[in-house]
Amino acid sequence: MATILGKSAIDIAFKERERQKSFNYPRLRYMGSKYKIIPYLTSILSQYKFSTALDAFSGSGVVSYSLKEMGKQVTANDFLNFPATVARALIENSGTVLNENDIKTLLQPNKDGRNFIQNKFEGLYFSKEDHEFLDALWSHLPTMNKYKRALAIASVCLAAARKQPRGVFTITDFRYDDGRRSLRLPLKALFLEAVEEYNDAVFDNGKSNKVICSDVFNIDSRQFDLVYLDPPYAPPKDDADYIKRYHFLEGLSVYWEGMKIMEHTKTKKIEKRFTPFAYKRTIHDALRRLFYKFKDSMLVMSYSSNSVPSEVELYGLLKEVKRDVQVYSIPHTYSFGTHETALRRQAEELIFVAK
Ligand SMILES: C[S@@+](CC[C@H](N)C(=O)[O-])C[C@H]1O[C@@H](n2cnc3c(N)ncnc32)[C@H](O)[C@@H]1O
Repeated sequence: MATILGKSAIDIAFKERERQKSFNYPRLRYMGSKYKIIPYLTSILSQYKFSTALDAFSGSGVVSYSLKEMGKQVTANDFLNFPATVARALIENSGTVLNENDIKTLLQPNKDGRNFIQNKFEGLYFSKEDHEFLDALWSHLPTMNKYKRALAIASVCLAAARKQPRGVFTITDFRYDDGRRSLRLPLKALFLEAVEEYNDAVFDNGKSNKVICSDVFNIDSRQFDLVYLDPPYAPPKDDADYIKRYHFLEGLSVYWEGMKIMEHTKTKKIEKRFTPFAYKRTIHDALRRLFYKFKDSMLVMSYSSNSVPSEVELYGLLKEVKRDVQVYSIPHTYSFGTHETALRRQAEELIFVAK
């Protein structure tokens, strides 16, 4: 695509490509996940000097994890509970794992007879046995410490996502067979695999890393050298509604406590969480407010070329608060499959760095 912006192509070092092979972040299919471009992103970031970083829209947590691996003091934020729980397990947590005893406890029969999931989701998503397992697992969580609980919740969410076609909860027919091995395995077995992956990924980078679960506009902006911004851009078609796709994981992460299920919906989804970034009408103003809010930090922004606003408009908005704006172009194929996949495959992934 022709553009008036001068872009720098990225030459990732061999070392970086090799590093991706050993990257052991438990992979979750999440809309807009930057999993595939991590080597490029870290290659760009390593050119700049910074010690503290905010991943303001952390999603799957993979960017926060890379920043942690780079030895930075990381704060991960997302306004949804499920991404915040994943970040608590692997970003904030520096050494706690689920040991054999914990796992044994988690697999015990239902401790308090709770049956919310079995009742509410009967006939949807998973089998009766899987729903019983989810209720029983949750009955053991309240007495665990916060990092063990986060690891168990992150693991069970990953297991549930892997058992669902394309990892999303917009389809309610649990017999839908797209040939995956994970469809045939009981959730309990997928959970045990996920626990192993999460345990393996826990590490200490010597810094005090933190998780926030808040709207980005409520964060105290004064403490970060660098702020990484990856909001849910308004796509040309379709939508960027995370709750529509991941409502089951969001509910499961807190056992639906305090959440309102829209009972008339076939998917039994929870209420949508409004964000101004997901709509063409409101995204310009939201981005401007965001850039002003974090204007004292270096801003690193992920952007896909087929989104709204255009890359030229985005450049202009960043120029309102920053003198120096660099644009990097990444060859990228979207990993997330939707009806729009063919279209989005053509998208060019850009990284704006504004100082
Ligand atoms: C494109 S995804 C981020 C993907 C992430 N960088 C990754 O690699 O997985 C955008 C995220 O922003 C979150 N989000 C949307 N609006 C928000 C807001 N106003 N404040 C905080 N988080 C928000 C969504 O819940 C979603 O997880």
